Amino acid sequence: MPGIARLRDFVQDMTRLAEAGGGQALFHTEGAALLRGLVAVDDWLPDACAVPGPAYRQYLLHCDPLERFCVVSFVWGPGQRTPIHDHLVWGLVGQLRGEEISTEYRLGPPGTPPRPGRRERLRRGEVALVGTDTYDIHVVENAVPDGPSVSIHCYGGNIGAVRRHGFDPVTGAAREFVSGYANDALPNLWDRSHAPAMA
Ligand SMILES: [Fe+2]
Repeated sequence: MPGIARLRDFVQDMTRLAEAGGGQALFHTEGAALLRGLVAVDDWLPDACAVPGPAYRQYLLHCDPLERFCVVSFVWGPGQRTPIHDHLVWGLVGQLRGEEISTEYRLGPPGTPPRPGRRERLRRGEVALVGTDTYDIHVVENAVPDGPSVSIHCYGGNIGAVRRHGFDPVTGAAREFVSGYANDALPNLWDRSHAPAMA
Protein backbone atom coordinates (compact mmCIF):
# COMPACT_ATOMS: atom_id res chain seq x y z
CA MET A 1 0.00 0.00 0.00
CA PRO A 2 1.71 3.24 -1.12
CA GLY A 3 0.26 5.22 1.80
CA ILE A 4 2.13 3.04 4.29
CA ALA A 5 4.89 5.70 4.13
CA ARG A 6 2.65 7.83 6.38
CA LEU A 7 2.79 5.17 9.09
CA ARG A 8 6.55 4.75 8.60
CA ASP A 9 7.10 8.51 8.95
CA PHE A 10 4.89 8.57 12.06
CA VAL A 11 6.83 5.71 13.66
CA GLN A 12 10.12 7.48 12.96
CA ASP A 13 8.84 10.77 14.43
CA MET A 14 7.49 9.01 17.53
CA THR A 15 10.83 7.23 17.93
CA ARG A 16 12.56 10.63 17.92
CA LEU A 17 10.27 11.74 20.79
CA ALA A 18 11.17 8.58 22.69
CA GLU A 19 14.87 9.20 22.00
CA ALA A 20 14.40 12.72 23.42
CA GLY A 21 13.35 11.09 26.68
CA GLY A 22 9.71 11.85 26.09
CA GLY A 23 7.26 11.15 28.87
CA GLN A 24 3.50 11.64 29.08
CA ALA A 25 3.67 15.45 28.77
CA LEU A 26 5.71 15.35 25.55
CA PHE A 27 3.65 12.62 23.92
CA HIS A 28 0.39 14.33 24.96
CA THR A 29 1.48 17.46 23.09
CA GLU A 30 3.93 16.68 20.29
CA GLY A 31 2.88 13.04 19.96
CA ALA A 32 -0.77 14.10 19.75
CA ALA A 33 0.10 16.54 16.96
CA LEU A 34 1.85 13.76 15.05
CA LEU A 35 -1.12 11.43 15.46
CA ARG A 36 -3.48 14.19 14.29
CA GLY A 37 -1.44 14.32 11.10
CA LEU A 38 -1.55 10.54 10.68
CA VAL A 39 -5.34 10.24 10.99
CA ALA A 40 -5.99 13.29 8.80
CA VAL A 41 -5.65 11.07 5.73
CA ASP A 42 -7.20 7.61 5.39
CA ASP A 43 -5.14 5.87 2.72
CA TRP A 44 -2.51 3.94 4.64
CA LEU A 45 -4.03 1.39 7.02
CA PRO A 46 -3.67 -2.14 5.58
CA ASP A 47 -7.07 -3.79 5.09
CA ALA A 48 -5.97 -6.77 7.20
CA CYS A 49 -5.70 -4.42 10.21
CA ALA A 50 -9.25 -3.09 9.81
CA VAL A 51 -11.31 -6.30 9.92
CA PRO A 52 -14.04 -6.34 12.60
CA GLY A 53 -14.63 -9.47 14.68
CA PRO A 54 -17.25 -10.84 17.06
CA ALA A 55 -15.79 -8.47 19.68
CA TYR A 56 -13.66 -5.35 19.19
CA ARG A 57 -10.16 -6.11 17.92
CA GLN A 58 -6.75 -4.55 18.37
CA TYR A 59 -4.10 -5.04 15.69
CA LEU A 60 -0.48 -4.20 16.46
CA LEU A 61 0.92 -1.93 13.73
CA HIS A 62 4.31 -1.26 15.33
CA CYS A 63 6.08 -1.77 18.64
CA ASP A 64 9.20 0.18 19.50
CA PRO A 65 12.11 -2.31 19.89
CA LEU A 66 12.63 -1.03 23.45
CA GLU A 67 8.85 -1.14 24.10
CA ARG A 68 8.79 2.60 24.84
CA PHE A 69 5.64 3.00 22.72
CA CYS A 70 3.40 1.06 20.35
CA VAL A 71 0.91 1.84 17.58
CA VAL A 72 -2.32 -0.17 17.39
CA SER A 73 -5.49 -0.08 15.25
CA PHE A 74 -8.70 -0.65 17.20
CA VAL A 75 -11.63 -1.92 15.13
CA TRP A 76 -15.16 -1.72 16.46
CA GLY A 77 -18.19 -3.39 14.95
CA PRO A 78 -21.70 -2.03 15.57
CA GLY A 79 -22.68 -2.21 19.26
CA GLN A 80 -19.19 -3.22 20.42
CA ARG A 81 -17.62 -1.79 23.57
CA THR A 82 -14.83 -2.49 26.02
CA PRO A 83 -15.26 -3.51 29.64
CA ILE A 84 -14.31 -0.91 32.28
CA HIS A 85 -10.49 -0.99 32.14
CA ASP A 86 -7.33 0.94 32.94
CA HIS A 87 -4.08 1.43 31.00
CA LEU A 88 -1.36 2.39 33.53
CA VAL A 89 0.60 4.14 30.74
CA TRP A 90 0.03 7.30 28.67
CA GLY A 91 -2.10 6.93 25.57
CA LEU A 92 -3.22 8.75 22.41
CA VAL A 93 -6.36 7.89 20.44
CA GLY A 94 -6.88 9.20 16.90
CA GLN A 95 -10.13 8.57 15.07
CA LEU A 96 -9.56 7.31 11.53
CA ARG A 97 -13.05 6.08 10.57
CA GLY A 98 -16.47 6.44 12.17
CA GLU A 99 -16.86 7.76 15.72
CA GLU A 100 -16.42 6.42 19.23
CA ILE A 101 -17.40 7.46 22.76
CA SER A 102 -15.13 7.25 25.80
CA THR A 103 -16.72 7.38 29.27
CA GLU A 104 -14.44 7.97 32.24
CA TYR A 105 -15.02 6.00 35.46
CA ARG A 106 -14.02 6.64 39.08
CA LEU A 107 -13.62 3.82 41.57
CA GLY A 108 -15.69 4.03 44.77
CA PRO A 109 -15.35 2.20 48.09
CA PRO A 110 -14.77 -1.57 47.78
CA GLY A 111 -17.96 -3.43 46.84
CA THR A 112 -19.56 -0.46 45.08
CA PRO A 113 -19.95 0.15 41.35
CA PRO A 114 -17.47 2.41 39.55
CA ARG A 115 -19.11 5.79 38.89
CA PRO A 116 -19.29 7.18 35.33
CA GLY A 117 -17.88 10.67 34.82
CA ARG A 118 -16.94 12.65 31.73
CA ARG A 119 -17.97 11.48 28.27
CA GLU A 120 -16.01 12.35 25.18
CA ARG A 121 -17.17 11.78 21.60
CA LEU A 122 -14.32 11.39 19.14
CA ARG A 123 -14.97 12.29 15.50
CA ARG A 124 -12.89 11.57 12.41
CA GLY A 125 -9.53 13.30 12.53
CA GLU A 126 -9.73 14.10 16.26
CA VAL A 127 -7.24 12.95 18.91
CA ALA A 128 -8.00 12.20 22.58
CA LEU A 129 -5.62 11.68 25.50
CA VAL A 130 -5.39 8.85 28.01
CA GLY A 131 -3.07 9.13 31.00
CA THR A 132 -2.51 9.04 34.70
CA ASP A 133 -4.66 12.16 35.10
CA THR A 134 -7.27 11.68 32.38
CA TYR A 135 -9.44 8.77 31.29
CA ASP A 136 -7.07 6.16 32.73
CA ILE A 137 -10.16 4.15 33.71
CA HIS A 138 -12.83 4.19 31.02
CA VAL A 139 -15.19 2.38 28.67
CA VAL A 140 -14.93 2.90 24.91
CA GLU A 141 -17.79 2.10 22.55
CA ASN A 142 -18.52 2.39 18.85
CA ALA A 143 -20.78 5.42 18.34
CA VAL A 144 -21.82 4.34 14.83
CA PRO A 145 -24.92 2.12 15.13
CA ASP A 146 -24.73 0.44 11.73
CA GLY A 147 -21.08 0.30 10.72
CA PRO A 148 -17.51 -0.16 11.91
CA SER A 149 -15.29 2.46 13.49
CA VAL A 150 -11.49 2.42 13.48
CA SER A 151 -9.17 4.36 15.77
CA ILE A 152 -5.38 4.47 15.91
CA HIS A 153 -3.92 4.24 19.42
CA CYS A 154 -0.44 4.85 20.77
CA TYR A 155 0.60 3.89 24.28
CA GLY A 156 3.67 4.41 26.39
CA GLY A 157 4.62 0.74 26.34
CA ASN A 158 3.75 -2.52 24.61
CA ILE A 159 0.09 -2.23 25.58
CA GLY A 160 -0.79 -5.79 24.58
CA ALA A 161 1.71 -7.06 27.14
CA VAL A 162 0.95 -4.65 30.02
CA ARG A 163 -0.56 -6.26 33.12
CA ARG A 164 -3.53 -4.00 33.77
CA HIS A 165 -7.04 -4.24 35.13
CA GLY A 166 -10.66 -4.70 34.23
CA PHE A 167 -13.28 -3.67 36.79
CA ASP A 168 -16.57 -5.36 37.67
CA PRO A 169 -19.43 -2.93 36.84
CA VAL A 170 -21.38 -3.97 39.98
CA THR A 171 -18.75 -4.48 42.68
CA GLY A 172 -15.81 -2.51 41.25
CA ALA A 173 -13.58 -5.52 41.91
CA ALA A 174 -10.39 -5.46 39.82
CA ARG A 175 -9.13 -8.41 37.82
CA GLU A 176 -5.77 -8.44 36.09
CA PHE A 177 -5.62 -8.97 32.34
CA VAL A 178 -3.13 -8.85 29.46
CA SER A 179 -4.90 -7.99 26.21
CA GLY A 180 -2.52 -9.36 23.55
CA TYR A 181 -3.23 -8.58 19.88
CA ALA A 182 -5.45 -9.99 17.13
CA ASN A 183 -2.64 -10.32 14.55
CA ASP A 184 0.53 -12.37 14.25
CA ALA A 185 1.92 -10.55 11.16
CA LEU A 186 2.68 -6.81 11.24
CA PRO A 187 2.46 -4.36 8.32
CA ASN A 188 5.68 -4.07 6.32
CA LEU A 189 6.77 -0.46 6.80
CA TRP A 190 10.13 -0.93 5.13
CA ASP A 191 9.48 -1.83 1.50
CA ARG A 192 10.33 1.47 -0.14
CA SER A 193 9.87 0.27 -3.71
CA HIS A 194 6.58 2.21 -3.90
CA ALA A 195 8.38 5.47 -3.19
CA PRO A 196 8.81 7.88 -6.13
CA ALA A 197 12.24 7.71 -7.75
CA MET A 198 14.70 10.34 -6.58
CA ALA A 199 15.05 13.20 -9.07
FE1 LIG B 1 -8.82 2.19 26.82
